[in-house]
Amino acid sequence: MAVVLNRHVVLLTFAFTRFCSAGNIVANREHQTGDIPAIAKYFGTKTRYEEINPYLLNDILFVNKTSLQLQQECTPVHISAVIRHGTRYPTAKNVKMMKDIYKIATKTKHRGLGLVDDISHWDMWYNDTMDGQLVKKGRDDHINLAFRLATAYPSLFTEDSFRDCRMKFITSSKHRCVDSTLSFIEGLVMKYWKMQDWRKDVHCQLEVNDDLMRFFDKCERFVVDVEENKTALQQVDLFKTKPEMQGVLGKVASLLDIAASDITADLVEAAFYMCSYDFSIRNLNSPWCQLFDQEDAKVIEYANDLKQYWKRGYGHEINSKSSCTLFHDLFRRLDKAVEESERSGMVSEPAAFQIGHAETLLPLLSLMGFFKDETPLTADNFAQQGERVFRTGHIVPYASNLVFILHRCEGSHRLQLLLNEKPLPFPHMDDPAPEYQHVKNLYSNLLEGCDFKKECKLPSANGTVNPIIHEL
Ligand SMILES: *[C@@H]1O[C@H](CO)[C@@H](O)[C@H](O)[C@H]1NC(C)=O
Ligand SMILES: *[C@@H]1O[C@H](CO)[C@@H](O)[C@H](O)[C@H]1NC(C)=O
Ligand SMILES: *[C@@H]1O[C@H](CO)[C@@H](O)[C@H](O)[C@H]1NC(C)=O
Ligand SMILES: *[C@@H]1O[C@H](CO)[C@@H](O)[C@H](O)[C@H]1NC(C)=O
Repeated sequence: MAVVLNRHVVLLTFAFTRFCSAGNIVANREHQTGDIPAIAKYFGTKTRYEEINPYLLNDILFVNKTSLQLQQECTPVHISAVIRHGTRYPTAKNVKMMKDIYKIATKTKHRGLGLVDDISHWDMWYNDTMDGQLVKKGRDDHINLAFRLATAYPSLFTEDSFRDCRMKFITSSKHRCVDSTLSFIEGLVMKYWKMQDWRKDVHCQLEVNDDLMRFFDKCERFVVDVEENKTALQQVDLFKTKPEMQGVLGKVASLLDIAASDITADLVEAAFYMCSYDFSIRNLNSPWCQLFDQEDAKVIEYANDLKQYWKRGYGHEINSKSSCTLFHDLFRRLDKAVEESERSGMVSEPAAFQIGHAETLLPLLSLMGFFKDETPLTADNFAQQGERVFRTGHIVPYASNLVFILHRCEGSHRLQLLLNEKPLPFPHMDDPAPEYQHVKNLYSNLLEGCDFKKECKLPSANGTVNPIIHEL
């Protein structure tokens, strides 16, 4: 299998043995046994996939076929899935904050206090070289997800269509995404089909495409109006000064036996990360978790969700509009499959898998109108937002996936949507698998508009549109 970068073949040889990253070095510390921290539901985008589908803890390959069944007699003809990478190490930026809070927490002279003592005996094992790489658990996330999707829709996962390169794999260029994609393929090839010696005769390509999977970096209006805009996330900054967050800060300081003035909301968040990473990577209930009760965790979860809301969700319109290319790409595939299915009953591409980030999924879900609360999330309304639907831990945990299943039914095609392997009804539609044409009517404005170039281009100061400069 070859890896295509912007449609040029660059890397060759798809080998499972290339996982020689930090993931293997620390393999012996991963997956230690430990119970589940009481706050594990509140880790936001750092939530383990099993937290939202706890039945997987009993059987990681279980597929709930009854929950996927349609009311009509249908045959699935195409699957498209947008999938987040699996469990990963902290990024270098996270690690820096984690080191800071570790230093502060362990410099206290009052040894012998239970919790402070536990933390001082805890080994600071995170370092910069981990830089967001996929961990062993993250590989397993994708191996097992691939197996479950194939089990749910076996007719779309045939060995022949894989061998004939009719299954498409597209990934973001980040190593954690490429590694997730390779793990997903491993799940199909080694675990589901149990293919032997297949590399000799399978010569398919893996496409690396940041225009599709990291559209947020390519959208100038998003970069300038949100990413580089100091006030775009003002609600997030403001929330750090509110009584809820200051209350958590005071409690953590007191448990660590230090002055509240010695720490910041960001450092408290880093301590929370320590608990979340120890759990998701090593399956460990770390002493850092003891710094927070469930009420504290809800506050930090809200701080996280606020940030995602304003940076990736409904907070700014351009957040979702930046995903127009991906939206059109998905519907182009579905259109083509419907057309082929109607014409000949044969669909040339039964499956397409696109591996990206939480930052890929949240804008797309927002564009399509999912998880929209009536009231925006702000620094002032934590108490009223207790039942909000915009909860990133439920929407985009590690390996989260948005799956489109196109079915050929009596007289029409129908589209079924799954989020994290559970049916996700379209906004304002009761039918769990509406006719494809009804879905297209629902999104007619986006299908006819939502032009990435138009939405993402910034007008220049004199009101004209900036020319696109091609370097020679
Ligand atoms: C399967 O899904 C249905 C809902 O569609 C639910 O009632 C049932 O409990 C699930 N079964 C398992 C084993 O999780
Ligand atoms: C980072 O951590 C890994 C795993 O614990 C270790 O093998 C590696 O040597 C560390 N790197 C540095 C620069 O400390
Ligand atoms: C920056 O964000 C603020 C707050 O959301 C918004 O009002 C303002 O228009 C943004 N600035 C630019 C240049 O888009
Ligand atoms: C508008 O400004 C750009 C540079 O900011 C300049 O290149 C262009 O000629 C200007 N257009 C007009 C009509 O003044």
